[in-house]
Amino acid sequence: MVNLKGRDFISTQEWSREELEYILRIAFDLKKKNMLNQPHRLLEGKTLYMFFYNPSLRTRNSFQTGMFQLGGQAIYLTPSAVYRPALAGEEIPYTTERISDVARVLSRYGDAISIRIYGESVNWIYKKGNQVVREFSKWASIPIINMEDDCYHPCQAMADVMTIIEKKGRLEGKKIVVSWAYSGGIKPVAVPQSCVLAFTRFGGEVVLAHPRGLELDPEIIEFAKRNADESGGSFEVVYNMDEAFEGASVVYPKSWGSLKFMPPNVSEVNTEGMIELMNQYKDWKATKEKMDLCSRDAIYMHCLPADRGMEVEDNVIDGSQSVVFDEAENRLHVQKAIMAVIMGGT
Ligand code: CP
Repeated sequence: MVNLKGRDFISTQEWSREELEYILRIAFDLKKKNMLNQPHRLLEGKTLYMFFYNPSLRTRNSFQTGMFQLGGQAIYLTPSAVYRPALAGEEIPYTTERISDVARVLSRYGDAISIRIYGESVNWIYKKGNQVVREFSKWASIPIINMEDDCYHPCQAMADVMTIIEKKGRLEGKKIVVSWAYSGGIKPVAVPQSCVLAFTRFGGEVVLAHPRGLELDPEIIEFAKRNADESGGSFEVVYNMDEAFEGASVVYPKSWGSLKFMPPNVSEVNTEGMIELMNQYKDWKATKEKMDLCSRDAIYMHCLPADRGMEVEDNVIDGSQSVVFDEAENRLHVQKAIMAVIMGGT
């Protein structure tokens, strides 16, 4: 394996399958070491800066705890606590600071910068969050980690792949459903997009299900088809949740918003239009009846936070098929592996 020190982790698509498998091997090893209380201080004295333009429970705490366990530290930064990092031309005097300056300053102090930015933080302008992450990457001389932008949530997808391997042995030959589910709020498309990209990379028989009008980015769909061709898996899109769940080994029903109602497809985000569209599909919910359509040993996944009563019934998310807390735990192990590889050269 070549030395991956210094690489950015912005999407799994920019990493080869061999490199992603290397991260997973380290993640499983670190998980074991953690369980056995064996020291694994691979990032002694190193610092990660974490910029959160949006809230977080799992991402913040798994990164911060992970850095501590690796012997380093993570510093939590939120736009109101610093001069909000801004793109050139979007500065407000003594309120923002150009990203090119922020990235170069932090590169003189620490060892990686991680960023979460999507939704209202970028006025729901699709891909602007990703543009901000890539602007950090352009100017920083230390690695950039995407903690969820408006296109990708690669750390979540890697934790999900790790969880499927733990529960099912492999992704090859498994029917894995990434489905839209109803929510009263608007969530970004980053998780379903990263999941279909990662699951097709690892050879899954991936089915994407959603009502019409809730399509993912066509470019992501093309990448997913190409990934499936290369890995020997498959990828198809269906518009019926029951049809998707039929015989599935893994189901991952979660909500996302409609790109049709977000800029640049419209001049400004149309939340009312989106809610009106989504309200027609309240029956897209993970229920016991829907789980019964799956294979007997199917697992239920969700990145969390889940909108209980809307995306999923309590008896499913709290039931025996649910692996949501293993999935949340694996964020810690896989992110430690990513950091060990790109910050320390493990
Ligand atoms: N799944 C996930 O990213 O959770 P948080 O929003 O709590 O970080």
